Amino acid sequence: MEWDHLIKNGTIVTPESTYQANVYIKDGKIASIAQELLEGEAKETTDAEGQYVLPGLIDTHVHSRDGGSTYKEDFFHSTQAAAAGGITTIFEMPNTNPPVNNAENFERQTENLSPKAHVDFGLWGICLGDLNLHELKDLNNSGVIGFKYFWGYAVDKNNFRLIYDYKEGMEDVIPPSNDGGVYRMMEEVAKTGKTFAIHAENSDLINHLTEEMKKTGKDDYETVLAGRPSLAENMTIQAGIAMAKATGTRLHILHVSSADGTESIKQAQEEGYPITAETCPHYLFLTNEDYEKIGPSMKVYPLVKYKEDQERIWQGIEEGTFSFVCSDHAPHTEEEKQGDLWSVPAGMCGVESLAPLMLNAVSEGKITLQQLVSLLSANPAKQYGIYPQKGALQTGSDADFTIVDMNKQMEIKKENLHSKSKVTAYDGFQVKGVPVATIVRGTTVMKDGKIVAEPIGKLVKPV
Ligand code: DOR
Repeated sequence: MEWDHLIKNGTIVTPESTYQANVYIKDGKIASIAQELLEGEAKETTDAEGQYVLPGLIDTHVHSRDGGSTYKEDFFHSTQAAAAGGITTIFEMPNTNPPVNNAENFERQTENLSPKAHVDFGLWGICLGDLNLHELKDLNNSGVIGFKYFWGYAVDKNNFRLIYDYKEGMEDVIPPSNDGGVYRMMEEVAKTGKTFAIHAENSDLINHLTEEMKKTGKDDYETVLAGRPSLAENMTIQAGIAMAKATGTRLHILHVSSADGTESIKQAQEEGYPITAETCPHYLFLTNEDYEKIGPSMKVYPLVKYKEDQERIWQGIEEGTFSFVCSDHAPHTEEEKQGDLWSVPAGMCGVESLAPLMLNAVSEGKITLQQLVSLLSANPAKQYGIYPQKGALQTGSDADFTIVDMNKQMEIKKENLHSKSKVTAYDGFQVKGVPVATIVRGTTVMKDGKIVAEPIGKLVKPV
């Protein structure tokens, strides 16, 4: 037998176990996992002695802004950043131009992204209220990962950019749907059996409080946070849960930032409803107290909150309230991120630092490596219907691997990021535990931090 690729001497990590084995790859798939060395030559051999071999890590929440705002980021750069950070599959958000709002645009976006993809990718579909309610069925059949709804956000009619601070009467916008509209979207998505994922922030509350806070003339973090408090997140989470109970929708809460939100989700899960949630590194590793040092680059929506929120979210990771952690990679340019806290856009780079930060959490004993594999690989693959093609280390699965060196230390430096934008809150962070190779369907795309392959990424669809 001639093998395409052998990964030898590594320590395999799955959610259930950790063991020494050699992995043999043929035609992009895992052909054999063996304790001993098998007969036959391998065209390529990776020696993972002293390193851990994880199933390829998945980032379910990436805004590469391609097409649309490609001056901030594009798919070529975001997927290089993903590969550099040990991510083998990303799920791309649908608020692009054109948006992924119907079957035709799904195909267009696949054609646009495929030649630039350094890693595999799935596509989210967007819900735009009445505008595409009748198209969701076909969009589902195209192969979207799930459906996203930016609850409370308006969308620019011309370029589909999100409008953060929508006010009634604004022109050329698709305004946020009212509750009835959201209810109908959920009913429609429930028919597909896929996830209805919400950005949960109550815009009425935020608009009112933000106006009040702006009048104080202050722009410190506490004041801005008072305009977008945890209550805004929790109100929308609770409304979403109530509607999901009524419609049977698989509701997913994106980027949870608050203790109260976490508590609401936990309760609904305990009642037996299929409610899932994710959180992001910024809510796990940053608090309001970091603003003084880091500044506007850490502005994200929902805003990073208090120590109590951070602690409750970690508890939610431990208790399984959160199925996974993802980056919400949302780059803006450095120029755009300069200015007062009210006016700078929310979002920063994240796809490249996701795995290093979580590996560092393993080094600090916050989670185990097996838990990390659940959170960054097996769980997202299961949730979005691509398991065991992805997210599994077993014969027949795609040969996607993230090889990590848990003894290696690294400083995250913004100038080393592979994204177009270099905006990160983690510049200067020291981490222990670093991805040293990224392998996508048998091809090594990153080795020792360097991109070593042309774009070979492919679209992945749920089964
Ligand atoms: O901070 C954010 N920025 N949060 C989001 O949900 C959207 C994102 C963006 O696209 O800029």
